[in-house]
Amino acid sequence: MADDVIVTEGLTKVYEGMDVPAVDHLDLEVRAGEVFGLLGPNGAGKTTTAGILTTRVVPTAGRAYVAGIDVVRHPALVKQVSGIVSQQNTLDRQLTVWENLYFHGRLFGMGGRDSRARADELLETFSLSKWAKASVYALSGGMAQRLMVARAIFHRPAVLFLDEPTAGLDPQSRLALWGMLAELNREGQTVVLTTHYMEEADQLCDRVAIMDHGHVLALDTPDALKRSTGADTILTVKVDRDGERLASALARDLGGVVSTRVAGDVVTVQVRGAERLVPRTVDVAESAGVAVLDLAVAEPSLETVFINLTGKELRE
Ligand SMILES: Nc1ncnc2c1ncn2[C@@H]1O[C@H](COP(=O)(O)OP(=O)(O)O)[C@@H](O)[C@H]1O
Ligand SMILES: [Mg+2]
Repeated sequence: MADDVIVTEGLTKVYEGMDVPAVDHLDLEVRAGEVFGLLGPNGAGKTTTAGILTTRVVPTAGRAYVAGIDVVRHPALVKQVSGIVSQQNTLDRQLTVWENLYFHGRLFGMGGRDSRARADELLETFSLSKWAKASVYALSGGMAQRLMVARAIFHRPAVLFLDEPTAGLDPQSRLALWGMLAELNREGQTVVLTTHYMEEADQLCDRVAIMDHGHVLALDTPDALKRSTGADTILTVKVDRDGERLASALARDLGGVVSTRVAGDVVTVQVRGAERLVPRTVDVAESAGVAVLDLAVAEPSLETVFINLTGKELRE
């Protein structure tokens, strides 16, 4: 489609010496102006996918285009239209905060005056002006992350890639970064991010591809993915024993049960219809002779979707 900023066709990566592909026949389209998320557990192939799209990893098969440019044939051109925030801190420690931005502009072919103005502007936008002359050593994790985002969008890329942008950030810095990415997106920036945090994908992304073992298992808006579970409520019951017995009793007697799952001493039930769910659950447990230690209700999350697709938890 003309409005697609990224297209992949049968994109595949098999690392040398590995017998299973890290990325396996991936077909993706990322539209201009959206925040697109690759959500999946460790080893799902998120970084490899991002690596191919940012030309750091050479695919084994298939094709990938960024802004219509083939990543294998024209890696240098693809770099020009991409902004990259990788998992590591890639700031230049020999340079000041301001210089990290300025020299990025020069490296990307921008003139001195334009680069100076853009560096000043972005330090302002990202609340880093005070630190312009400081060494990057002086920055906290959250500030360093902000500087990396500022640097990544410095040359006005068609797409901004972020690989696990908030892994290791404190909750406050994480929220701040979410706000900043949302703001950039409001101004039109297309964003592709990888994450294993379902809340991050849910909050930030217009569409999410859920990945595992190099495959996309589902791809849609967070709301549509959650609706696809068929449940509107997730009931979590903690017991000290007889979890399996409680699960079958609930499946039989509670009504509206879409699925049950027992993991250790926790029974999770996906339910349609939340009316008086808590007292009804207690009733069923009592009739089944199972003692309930704790009980909670929540809405379905992307975690629910992931469990339904894979039988395992995203967090594991
Ligand atoms: N350079 C590499 N050499 C060999 N195997 C790799 C390399 N990088 C990643 N892998 C393997 O490829 C799979 C996908 O990894 P990765 O793309 O890093 O996943 P994610 O970012 O979702 O955690 C994993 O099984 C990982 O061990
Ligand atoms: Mg990764």
